[in-house]
Amino acid sequence: MKEIRFLANTKQKSIENGVTTWSSPSNIALVKYWGKRKEQIPENTSISFTLNQCKTITNLTYTKKEDNLNFSFDVFLDGEKQDDFKPKIEVFFNRITPYLSFLKDFHFKIETKNTFPHSSGIASSASGMSALAACLMSIDKELNPEMNSQFILQKTSFLARLGSGSACRSLEGDLVVWGEHKSIVNSSNLFGVKFPFNTHNNFKNYQDTILLVDKGEKQVSSTIGHNLMHNHPFSQQRFVQANQNLEKITAILQNGNLDEFISLVESEALTLHAMMMSSMPYFILMKPNTLEIINKIWAFRKATNSKVCFTLDAGANVHVLYPESEKDSVLQFIKNELVVYCQNGHYICDNIGKGLEQL
Ligand code: PMV
Repeated sequence: MKEIRFLANTKQKSIENGVTTWSSPSNIALVKYWGKRKEQIPENTSISFTLNQCKTITNLTYTKKEDNLNFSFDVFLDGEKQDDFKPKIEVFFNRITPYLSFLKDFHFKIETKNTFPHSSGIASSASGMSALAACLMSIDKELNPEMNSQFILQKTSFLARLGSGSACRSLEGDLVVWGEHKSIVNSSNLFGVKFPFNTHNNFKNYQDTILLVDKGEKQVSSTIGHNLMHNHPFSQQRFVQANQNLEKITAILQNGNLDEFISLVESEALTLHAMMMSSMPYFILMKPNTLEIINKIWAFRKATNSKVCFTLDAGANVHVLYPESEKDSVLQFIKNELVVYCQNGHYICDNIGKGLEQL
């Protein structure tokens, strides 16, 4: 499947102005994407749970302008103008210009807000870029009404990927796979696809409580992190391992084996951080409290036989994952034993969600 399918159509209707609003969630990877080739092509396949509470809501107002020489847009976060977001959006617009012919025809007012605190250390790029891609696709749909909904979804994911790789996995629930893989029919490096098998009841409405260990700016951007995989001594083996883990988790998600799920997911999280620690330059994104939490989770599991486990993003925060059947007991454990390790005691209770929503 080639990019060419998504190229801009030349015969289009004409529109003067309009407004569209979409909400899109964040996602948490179980098998991690870390390492990419040109144009945001992933080095290995990844899979994530779509989240429900951590969302970006973007309102896009578009007004036809006189010339079509340059991009023209303003960005607002929580009502305040954010000029420091502009370079990233400019890069995004440049990348997607071959696929959306109208970007220079309009002035865009991009008004965005997150349901999670801006300073939480939670990456808003997945939810933010997917929400913006969905808004732009609403305009594309208006100009090209013949596009069907499946094509629109794929193209939205394709565009979101060009904004931020993991953003292409945020459009649908419960589980989304990104990257070509022999076990997943129609999987693609260009866009995310819904996990095509029935998941075991153990994974229905899985819970993710995000412990906010460190709300500061990330020391290393994910772009730099991905690039460090290029000359990394272990990268090729890591990509092979991730693809094997994708195959294993495909079986686990169907057979419901929670012990195997725990081993795989925790190993993926620690491997992601091990790649960072063994790159040149090397870096550590975990904080002492990240490790305290991990040890507490292991002790709790040993003492109670709980199926709670953790995963990590490219940061110090800990995602605590557990089945819905353990909701009360794990939440109590978090309040009793883990909240002390969170910055200002902050955490966010989330669960599996459904993806994009037009508002
Ligand atoms: O989408 P990016 O380029 O910010 O990369 C995100 C990478 C991880 O969050 C660390 C892993 C993943 O698969 O989401």
